[in-house]
Amino acid sequence: MDKIFQTMGGNPRNFNKLDLYKLPSPCFVIDQRALIENLKVLHHLKSKTNVKVLVALKAFSTPYFGPLISEYLDGCCSSGLYETKLAKKYFKGEISTFSPAFKKNDLKEIVNLSDHIIFNSSNQLNDFYDIAIKFNAEIGLRINPLYSEINNEKYNAASINSRLGIHFNDLDNIDINKLNGIHFHTLCEQNFTPLKNTWNNIKNDIVPICKKLNWLNLGGGHHITRSDYEIDKLETFLKMIADETSCQIYIEPGEAVVLDSGILVGEILDSFKASNELSSNIAITDISAVSHIPDVIEAPYRPALLNEPDTGYKVILGGPSCLAGDIIGEYNFNSPPKVGDRIAILDQAHYTMVKTSFFNGVNLPSIAIWDSATDDLEVIKSFTFKDFENKLS
Ligand SMILES: Cc1ncc(COP(=O)(O)O)c(C=O)c1O
Repeated sequence: MDKIFQTMGGNPRNFNKLDLYKLPSPCFVIDQRALIENLKVLHHLKSKTNVKVLVALKAFSTPYFGPLISEYLDGCCSSGLYETKLAKKYFKGEISTFSPAFKKNDLKEIVNLSDHIIFNSSNQLNDFYDIAIKFNAEIGLRINPLYSEINNEKYNAASINSRLGIHFNDLDNIDINKLNGIHFHTLCEQNFTPLKNTWNNIKNDIVPICKKLNWLNLGGGHHITRSDYEIDKLETFLKMIADETSCQIYIEPGEAVVLDSGILVGEILDSFKASNELSSNIAITDISAVSHIPDVIEAPYRPALLNEPDTGYKVILGGPSCLAGDIIGEYNFNSPPKVGDRIAILDQAHYTMVKTSFFNGVNLPSIAIWDSATDDLEVIKSFTFKDFENKLS
């Protein structure tokens, strides 16, 4: 069985002040005030270090927040044509597009819209170099630093057999004149030290090459907005490597932009105990792990629940789909949950709204924007049978 990881987020911030019963259910709620606090941390980092910060759209790409995020950050990191188009339409600033492999048919449109195009292999660099320079996109190559401190192999982009990036010690075989920048990504929800250790592993090989380039992109996975993040050390480091390499340094966090700024509200639909004494208490909710928060199953991890007591009545929360494993996790309750009770899963803005599906015909959560300072609440999106039908026909 897969090891179940604990969530690295889960700070409730002001969400215990929100009246969950005012919302449709299920519903993602983003606290705009919490998002702004995160953006201010990243903006401060930019002003202290001159680093450019791109929001990783793969984690969070709600168009409503494009203008707000663009006020604080430098642009977007995209993973392909659709995200690049979304970036252009709803966000401002630079667009940096990386894909493990671009499709030839998409490439012209992507390079036309992107400031940076980052290739994953020497094959793609050579095959698409001519198109990229015709459209004036700066060209980057992803390297695999062969160093990471990630226990969950699913999120380890730097293993020896990783399909992401060329081994950093193979850069000698690349025509550096074709490149404007280098990209690497080795972190996942991590503090500063693994970044420093990654750099120490590659710097002797990379620094001489970087001196001939314009930029160096350190990828995502930096949990900068988490309260224990060693931001002073990151600041010193970013200034140091900018001096050492003479490159413009970029980072492209996703999670850190929206960390702990969103929840998923749900409702208890049924609550029972499977027949015998030894069996667990079960509650079925209108939140589906598989359809709404698939990383709970994919990682797998146990998301934090708002106001969960340290001990209490143990209940397995599960979703409404027919998948036997549609389980959110086991939680403590002060008393047995009742039909109609509302619950809120914490830290659900990233890698959730971008990943929902209509599996089993389970409806998608609505989307609401809340301001924890004023209690203003607006539901900006609800889904209907038409959305389900349109997707399938
Ligand atoms: C290339 C790249 N950049 C940025 C990110 C964003 O990472 P995070 O959301 O963990 O900050 C990822 C995440 O997988 C990534 O693969």
